[in-house]
Amino acid sequence: MVKMSVGLIGCGNIGADLCIALQKGDIPAALVALTDTDEKKAQLLKRSFQLEAEVCSLEENAGRVDFLVECAVADAVPAVIEAAIRHYRDCLIMSVGGLMQRPDLLEQARARKIEVRIPSGALAGLDAVRAAIEAGLHSVTLTTRKPPKGLEGAPYLKDHNIDLSALKEPKVVFEGSALEACKAFPANVNVAGALSLVGIGPTETRVRIIADPKATENSHEVVAEGAFGRLQTTTINLPSPRNAKSSYLASLSAIAELRAAARAFEARRR
Ligand SMILES: NC(=O)c1ccc[n+]([C@@H]2O[C@H](COP(=O)([O-])OP(=O)(O)OC[C@H]3O[C@@H](n4cnc5c(N)ncnc54)[C@H](O)[C@@H]3O)[C@@H](O)[C@H]2O)c1
Repeated sequence: MVKMSVGLIGCGNIGADLCIALQKGDIPAALVALTDTDEKKAQLLKRSFQLEAEVCSLEENAGRVDFLVECAVADAVPAVIEAAIRHYRDCLIMSVGGLMQRPDLLEQARARKIEVRIPSGALAGLDAVRAAIEAGLHSVTLTTRKPPKGLEGAPYLKDHNIDLSALKEPKVVFEGSALEACKAFPANVNVAGALSLVGIGPTETRVRIIADPKATENSHEVVAEGAFGRLQTTTINLPSPRNAKSSYLASLSAIAELRAAARAFEARRR
């Protein structure tokens, strides 16, 4: 079996979920390089999963692998795509909100025939939005509902002195474009980034974020209207077993993308 060598950037929860999936042995890929701003996290991942991987800088990582997986933070994304372009590597970007800051990088990657994979994350309906855009869409709206704890630490809440700790009823904490949402809640609404990139773009896609003290799960509703008709999807997500702030489906979408990339790599080597 030809295995695609993979470099991980960000060795946290999603990184660990990818390691668990790779351990099962049915994805033709192997982790060979690990990068994290906190080197101890990379070393811990290496020990926990007994990986034969090198802990190294982003530059070294990109230099030695076939495929890069970013699962770090939005701010790390531009440097990862720049490294992918320099070393001519395809990549998967989990911190999709980070792509909103530098749409030019996606263009540069596309121009050099480098594939930047964007996961569906914790959201259903991207496939239909991607198809529907072929005939034009009038509107796309995402409504995200999370328990207040799931929004903790967001810059928008701090900047606007919004305290959700004593919330008794659901409250709309944000309404705006996907571009603004990704800036305001960089760790919470990556799905808004993904939805906007396959659909009508970051400034036209509308986002509403509701903090709901009665909610026990994260849910996302997509409504899209266009020449095709009207689409409405709701995804109700259980939290990841390792991280209450993250939806399990997000990790599963990372695994599915890695599997697809590895199979495509295998097919090219046939
Ligand atoms: N696309 C989606 O639907 C979706 C869903 C959930 C999470 N995410 C995003 O995926 C990313 C990873 O999520 P997670 O739950 O694994 O997070 P995590 O906090 O568990 O792990 C992130 C790791 O990245 C490291 N890191 C931080 N800055 C870095 C940098 N500049 N370079 C390299 N490493 C760096 C941290 O030290 C940490 O070990 C986050 O940005 C999160 O918002 C996306």
